[in-house]
Amino acid sequence: MKALILAGGSGTRLYPVTISINKHFLPIYNKPMIYYALSLVFLAKIREIVIVITPNDIENFKKLLGYGEKFGVNIEYKIQEKPKGLAHGILVSQDSIEGHKIFMVLGDNILFGHGLTELLENTKQAIEKEGGAFIFGYYVKDPHRFGIIEFDKNGEVLSIEEKPKNPKSHYAAIGVYFFDENVVDYVKNIQPSNRGEYEITSILEEYLRVEKLKAKILGRGFAWFDAGTHDSFLEAGEFVATIEKKTGLMIGCLEEIAYRNGWIDDQQLIKLAEPMKKTEYGKYLINLVESKI
Ligand code: G1P
Repeated sequence: MKALILAGGSGTRLYPVTISINKHFLPIYNKPMIYYALSLVFLAKIREIVIVITPNDIENFKKLLGYGEKFGVNIEYKIQEKPKGLAHGILVSQDSIEGHKIFMVLGDNILFGHGLTELLENTKQAIEKEGGAFIFGYYVKDPHRFGIIEFDKNGEVLSIEEKPKNPKSHYAAIGVYFFDENVVDYVKNIQPSNRGEYEITSILEEYLRVEKLKAKILGRGFAWFDAGTHDSFLEAGEFVATIEKKTGLMIGCLEEIAYRNGWIDDQQLIKLAEPMKKTEYGKYLINLVESKI
C-alpha cells in the first residue's frame, strides 16, 4: 500500500494568513500542520508516500521534508496546478499510485486517540486482503461543513453527501481514507460538483454503489480536527499543547515515530535533534535516545 497526502488547495478559509504561505507549513502548536497527516501514514507503517502540492510550494516542502530520507521513507511530490478538488489530487498522482491500494490523508487533518496505531494497521490489512474503501465517521456539531455519512442501524453506510444543506446525520467523514486499486478508475468517471470541484465524496458514492464502502464511527476516545478554518486551527493547536504538556509525550512527532518504527537509529535521531536542541522539541528527541522511554 502507498500513502497519498493531499496538501494542495488555496487555503482561502484561512485568509489573510494563507495569502503568502501554504497552510500546511503553519504551526499546530510546535510542528508544521503537515506533520500530523504524515504521522498517521508513519503510524500505519507505510514508507512509500506521494504528496500532492501546489506549484509554488515545492521548494519549501523539500526544505522541510526532503524526499523523506531523513525519516527513512520515500516521498514523491506531485504538482496540482489548479485547486480542482481532492479527487483531482488522486488523478494528478495517477502514474505513481496506479495498481496500488492507497491510504489517503488530507494535509490539514489531525487525529488523536487511544488505539489509533492498531486501528490504522488493522484497517490497512483488511483493505489489503478484501479491497474496497474504508472511511471513518466522527460526530460534529456543524454537519453542513463536511462530507456527511448516513448509517443504518447496523452501522452500514446508506449515503454520503458533501456539505449537505439538510444533513442526514452528524457524522462527518474525516479526511482519512483507505482505497483499493479501483480508485483511479472511479476518479476518471466522476463529474465536478456545483462548486466546480472533483469531490472525494463522489468517489465514495461510487464505492457505495458497488457495495464496497465500509465505515467505522470513531467514538469519544478520539479527537479529530480539520485545521482549515481560523477557529479549528486554534482549537487544534490548543489541544495538542494541552495533551503534550500534560502527558510529556508528543503528538505527530515524525522523528519519534520513525525512530520507534526502527526506520532511523540512535545516531540518525541525534543528528535530526541537533539543530533543534535549544527547543523542547529537540530535547524531547535527545531524551528518547538517552532514556529509551
Ligand atoms: C473535505 C472533504 C469532506 C471531509 C473534510 C474532512 O472537505 O471534501 O468530505 O469531510 O474534508 O476534513 P474540505 O475541507 O475540502 O472542505
